[in-house]
Amino acid sequence: MNKKYNAIITGVGMYVPPKVLDNKYFEQYLDTNDEWIVTRTGIKERRILENGATSDLAAGAVKDLLASKNMDPMEIDAIIVATVTPDMFFPATACIVQDKVGAKNAWGFDLSAACSGFLFALRTGASLIESGQYRKVIVVGADKMSAIVDYTDRNTCILFGDAASAVLLEPTEEANTGIIDSILRVDGTGQEALYMKGGGSLNPPSHQTVDNKMHFIYQDGKAVFKVAVVGMADVSAEIMEKNGLTGEDVAFLVPHQANLRIIDATAQRMGVTREKVMINIDKYGNTTAATIPLCLTEYYRAGKVKKGDNLILAAFGAGFTWGSIYLKWAID
Ligand code: COA
Repeated sequence: MNKKYNAIITGVGMYVPPKVLDNKYFEQYLDTNDEWIVTRTGIKERRILENGATSDLAAGAVKDLLASKNMDPMEIDAIIVATVTPDMFFPATACIVQDKVGAKNAWGFDLSAACSGFLFALRTGASLIESGQYRKVIVVGADKMSAIVDYTDRNTCILFGDAASAVLLEPTEEANTGIIDSILRVDGTGQEALYMKGGGSLNPPSHQTVDNKMHFIYQDGKAVFKVAVVGMADVSAEIMEKNGLTGEDVAFLVPHQANLRIIDATAQRMGVTREKVMINIDKYGNTTAATIPLCLTEYYRAGKVKKGDNLILAAFGAGFTWGSIYLKWAID
């Protein structure tokens, strides 16, 4: 497709709450241990938001981004918040973030695609830029997973954490840069492998839904593991082939951080070595929509990502949803 404008990432920001839960914490009351968690998942600790909501995480990330660019919030045209833990069903968390950061000229909306949420939102935000109608679009991945995790379920509680991270998209007329290509998929036949069954229109909140713990995440870990490996590896390999890229051409694979073993399997399939994989799951666990921008922010700020680098972003999540985005980093 010939486009007049390409969408490039021109800024990043993040917020993680200060409270740390390490693996030892779970040893105190659950039949689990640090060694099992580290070897099976790669997670050593995660962050928990003690007071506040997803919008506080998201607003923290947006404010960090604005401060790093010395940018006035009035310049923001649109805010897209990818989340499965919105503050409320409505209004959209994007509206609350808009208010908290003072982005008086922005419109916005939430997008629900679980762990693939950031990729779906990034593609959507890029389309707003490519249309030529908007010039400054903020895409946030934010989740307060601690709000929907059952801390008595050892299968899930060790996996998740709270965080938010944001990127700023702007247009360029330069070709072959920024968000170059994407392959995004959904398959609703996987809906019961990973879901929160209660609280929506199917099972409105009642004493019974609460008693049956339907407001917590349920996951069939083994089933998700298998399809996640295949799904992430397939789309990543496909997008590389489609764009004539080999493992050598890729500066970094930026995978969703759900399990280090899934990340390793994806990298192997792409022919990408470990040094070229962004990893911070050890510090934050699975923060759902926040994992990918959190990696981008940390690696960019550490000076590891350079202008012109080819990045392959890859995610898999509830729905099922999955996908891959090929982007060329556009700023120094
Ligand atoms: N500590 C100790 N043992 C645990 C445990 C824990 N925290 N959690 C589960 N176990 C036990 C299980 O009960 C099971 O015991 P059993 O054999 O007596 O039944 C055993 O460990 C093996 O369970 P299994 O589910 O096979 O472990 P696993 O190696 O598949 O790891 C996950 C479990 C959840 C870490 C893994 O399946 C996974 O990462 N799945 C996908 C997660 C994911 O990507 N989710 C989100 C997509 S965004």
